[in-house]
Amino acid sequence: MSQNESKRLAGEKAIDFVEDGMIVGVGTGSTVAYFIDALARVKDRIAGAVSSSDQSTERLRSHGIEVLDLNATGELSLYVDGADECDPHKRLIKGGGAALTREKIIAEASRKFICIIDPIKQVPVLGKFPLPVEVIPMARSLVARRILAMTGGQPVWRDGVTTDNGNWILDVHNLSIVDPVAVERELNQIPGVVSVGLFARRPADVVIVGGQPPQIL
Ligand code: A5P
Repeated sequence: MSQNESKRLAGEKAIDFVEDGMIVGVGTGSTVAYFIDALARVKDRIAGAVSSSDQSTERLRSHGIEVLDLNATGELSLYVDGADECDPHKRLIKGGGAALTREKIIAEASRKFICIIDPIKQVPVLGKFPLPVEVIPMARSLVARRILAMTGGQPVWRDGVTTDNGNWILDVHNLSIVDPVAVERELNQIPGVVSVGLFARRPADVVIVGGQPPQIL
């Protein structure tokens, strides 16, 4: 089965968790795009969506799904998003699409976080996928030096990419993250870091791995 087919199956399976009248938190990426397309088929059953990126907002609106402001909705029942890596404890690396900060905000605001992935994203230990860190532009080199000293990983500036929040991304290579909660906490303390693409303190609640049939973990 192709990776895209696995992503489609995972995205469509997540619709099982959507209940009538819900405001659905929506992540970002190619797997989520399949979820949004499936959500469009049940759009009359939901009260709207909260979006984690301009890209997802555009897709939601193109299907006629109303996009709401998180400040107006309060806590959400459900958040559906993809990931770049997922460990056996449902802890994640995210941010390959540079939307990590808004994704983290919505994950925190949601009672249930469903992560939809293709099987390639499953890893025993996080860190093979370079860890995205969103930084305030003026702090880019300072944060890079601190991350190198603290973790031994190699931060690489994602040149040419500006996030929806007007910030920059460092991708930290060559990590093996055995204690993701500690790494998330420590990197978050560096002045200039906006957010770290580790979802360990608030991991996913359910992981759907695309396949025939999809696996629910
Ligand atoms: C976006 O910033 C990321 O966190 C995505 O959720 C992640 O990159 C997964 O993307 P795909 O579904 O495109 O693989």
